Amino acid sequence: MFRNQVKWKCFLACHTQVDVKYGLYYVSGTGYYHCQNHYDTYDDDRRLALNDYVQQELDISWNALLRNINPPGSMRGFVAASPSTSYPDYFYTWTRDAALVMRVVVDNYNEDGVKRLLHDYVASEIYHQVTSTLCDCLGEPKFNKDGSGYDGSWGRPQNDGPASRAITMMLLAEKSHENYVKKTLVPAIFADLDYVADVWSTPCFDLFEESEGLHSYTLLVMRRALVDGARFASQHSDPGRAATYTRVSEKIRERLETFWDGDHVVVTQEHTGGLYKPSGLDVSVLLGVNQAGTYVAPPPCSLAILATAHALEKSFERLYHVNSAHPDQLGTAIGRYPEDTYDGYRSGSEGNPWFLATAGMAETYYRATLEWQSDQSSVVVNAINGPFFGRLLAQEPEKLIGTTFHYGTPDFEALVGKMTEAADRFMATIQYHQRLNGSLSEQFNRYTGFEQGARDLTWSYASFISAAKARNGRPVK
Ligand code: NOJ
Ligand code: NOJ
Repeated sequence: MFRNQVKWKCFLACHTQVDVKYGLYYVSGTGYYHCQNHYDTYDDDRRLALNDYVQQELDISWNALLRNINPPGSMRGFVAASPSTSYPDYFYTWTRDAALVMRVVVDNYNEDGVKRLLHDYVASEIYHQVTSTLCDCLGEPKFNKDGSGYDGSWGRPQNDGPASRAITMMLLAEKSHENYVKKTLVPAIFADLDYVADVWSTPCFDLFEESEGLHSYTLLVMRRALVDGARFASQHSDPGRAATYTRVSEKIRERLETFWDGDHVVVTQEHTGGLYKPSGLDVSVLLGVNQAGTYVAPPPCSLAILATAHALEKSFERLYHVNSAHPDQLGTAIGRYPEDTYDGYRSGSEGNPWFLATAGMAETYYRATLEWQSDQSSVVVNAINGPFFGRLLAQEPEKLIGTTFHYGTPDFEALVGKMTEAADRFMATIQYHQRLNGSLSEQFNRYTGFEQGARDLTWSYASFISAAKARNGRPVK
């Protein structure tokens, strides 16, 4: 029955104009198989069709993202997580979502009107920093449209928020006028970084707001914030802060190393409350390394991260029906973590694949590929990354172990080609499940493939843009 529903999705897609434009067409009564044929080989036509799609969806995402900043009826600088005000109500500014979205906006600093939006964002975040909240700390997760703190029960604090906010504000500082940096950004950035340096080893809620402990995602973004923060503090004549930030960022690095369990980087240690994930698997590890970048260990191309990407894919591949019903040449639809029961409206149901998780997986692949190329070093297959490469090259991992892909050789180029193709497949999965007008919600149903959860999720658009920029060879900083 479910397979039929999936066929139906494709059947519908194949009938519509937009998908005709994307190269999916319907000829006879078996729409599903026609779609499948379209994806049979990764030929030039398919790559070109995907190029067009990515360019088009980049524009759609950018415009949709902008519509969610300063929406009518909100305080200036309000970044709605989604325009949806009920079922679910996401009409709040989450510190994390806003920081991740505005990081992508900073990357487009020279576009019309963007500087003004960024200044609005900063002003409202400074207001949030001094607003009294239930948490009474900088880790308050979400704020109302009038700028006041949300006062319902919630998982708080969430200390990735101030770290991500500091990263975004430091990126903005690099592009801003000295006066604005000194008067406005420096105090706000130091407030967040001092807080992070203080609380990093205290358990808090994770980015998905359900689990309390020490989280690899939170530590990754904290480390990036403090590494950048040390440089920022030196530039602004504060050697004391620079030394503290460096010292703490080193401690975080050491701590992060203990998250490797021999198979993947685990999501949480020192679990102190809330949801517990026995698998230890969570896509947030990849979101963290994408955001943290190459100089914060472990980078996307590292053994541990490729192994984690493989472990995640293996688990979601089996979990979501869409993955077995999909046209073969689409990439695996990726969710948050295997134990997820949040369906976009309530917990205690069944979790689904998420757009930002699937885009995050693609971005890790693109970033790893860029790292191999810029490092100009050889890629060596061993027991840790073997299963990842086995999946990528459709070979027995054991047979690959010991293989070296020397930089600059045809084999290396072929490997890069395979990685890019695999990453593109995740993007094709997004294309396949998005609404026909290109809008992206939070999730898509694990059986039918249709969108569900908050509509027009701002973070979904930001994550698509971020993946697409990595695909274009210019990842967001
Ligand atoms: C909303 C949270 O943001 C989401 O991550 C969570 O799964 C649900 N509430 C259920 O707690
Ligand atoms: C639920 C997600 O789990 C959380 O990470 C996010 O901040 C909120 N929704 C708002 O988008």
